[in-house]
Amino acid sequence: MDYTKLSKEELEKEYESVKKEYDRLAAQGLSLDMSRGKPGFENADLSEDLLTAVCREKGYKNKEGIDCRNYGGVDGIIEMKELFAEMLSLKPSQVIIGGNSSLTLMYDVISQAMTHGLGSEPMYKCENRKFICLVPGYDRHFAITDYFGFELISVPIDDNGPDMDKIEELVKDENVKGVWCVPKYSNPYGNSYSDEVVRRFANLKPAAKDFHLFWDNAYCVHDLYDEKDEILGIYDECQKAGNPDLPIIFASTSKISIPGDGVAAVAGSEKNMDMIRKRLSFQTVGPDKINMLRHARKFPNLAALLEQMKKHAEIIRPKFQTVLEAFSSELGGKGIAKWTNPKGGYFISLFVMNGCAKRVHTLCKEAGVVLTGAGASYPHGVDPDDSHLRIAPTYPTPENLKLAAGVLCVAVKLAALEKLTGKGA
Ligand SMILES: Cc1ncc(COP(=O)(O)O)c(C=O)c1O
Repeated sequence: MDYTKLSKEELEKEYESVKKEYDRLAAQGLSLDMSRGKPGFENADLSEDLLTAVCREKGYKNKEGIDCRNYGGVDGIIEMKELFAEMLSLKPSQVIIGGNSSLTLMYDVISQAMTHGLGSEPMYKCENRKFICLVPGYDRHFAITDYFGFELISVPIDDNGPDMDKIEELVKDENVKGVWCVPKYSNPYGNSYSDEVVRRFANLKPAAKDFHLFWDNAYCVHDLYDEKDEILGIYDECQKAGNPDLPIIFASTSKISIPGDGVAAVAGSEKNMDMIRKRLSFQTVGPDKINMLRHARKFPNLAALLEQMKKHAEIIRPKFQTVLEAFSSELGGKGIAKWTNPKGGYFISLFVMNGCAKRVHTLCKEAGVVLTGAGASYPHGVDPDDSHLRIAPTYPTPENLKLAAGVLCVAVKLAALEKLTGKGA
């Protein structure tokens, strides 16, 4: 039943029936949370052995004989450089290992860019500094550049990645200093960049000498199916294009091992890494190498890590399927919503009728289901169409997810019917 083709009487009738269903669900006193892209406890349980991988019996030394309990090794232990290098198709010398959060590394690079520049003068000197934000995108990326006073410029993404015509145009402005990218299973769209998009990024000719691609490959090994998205290596493409210093690449094991206790990395050209390494030496006498060693023992190579990712996928895949099945059976063919169907990552994007996303969020909240705030995936939390909702299926239990997805679908229908019948709250 396509709602957009119904007569006034048919819409009224459908409204009454959906409203009744919504009231019934809301009276159940549910308390469900689908708001954050966190792994569930079963995912963290897969890394229980990590916590005991380093102790007196197992030794504290890495393969180079470094006692990881002591100070030193500013850019991390060799095993983890090799592991991330394999994950990102780079050389170990192109990788710096950080603490538990890639977001901290991203913040740090931007902070350094502000005070000391990224191959040019400090960015604080550029009063009208701007940063490109692909939308819908990751709120915490946008927040970092907002915090440092960049004007945030939205560029839309679709199934192939961002609108590259627009990006090529924007980088002609020397005040545009960078772009946030999540190339594989992006947060929250779920798509991956096509080869053409990666090549066009690599071949950008920005007016600003200190423009960089902030290439956050957070979901590079987070495939849900055997048939996975493959993306071109950004460094290789940049090198071919004569732009080796353009990308600054980030990744972490947050959603591979334990989110609060993982290992993060920043990578790119040796020139960029030398710059970051030098600055690191002022920040620390040495990072948490014990945690790096724990990870190195649990994941001696990429194959071992990918085995763990298969186990994650077995837990997460049915959760994605629960939500996607609810969407297609409840919302399919109604002309009021569309959604992405990712092959990996942590999110699904749901686009409801323009002007309805906030209402859907409120209806869900009143029925006991918490969603990420409508607009959260846009700079300053403002979705100009008020249409997008970020759906995070990974944290709730499968039973709760089924209930939550049911409430969400009814809320989407009710918000659309309120709009179409003019009964808006
Ligand atoms: C795209 C993206 N980057 C980074 C992060 C955070 O990574 P970390 O835990 O390494 O700081 C997330 C978490 O949801 C994310 O979605």
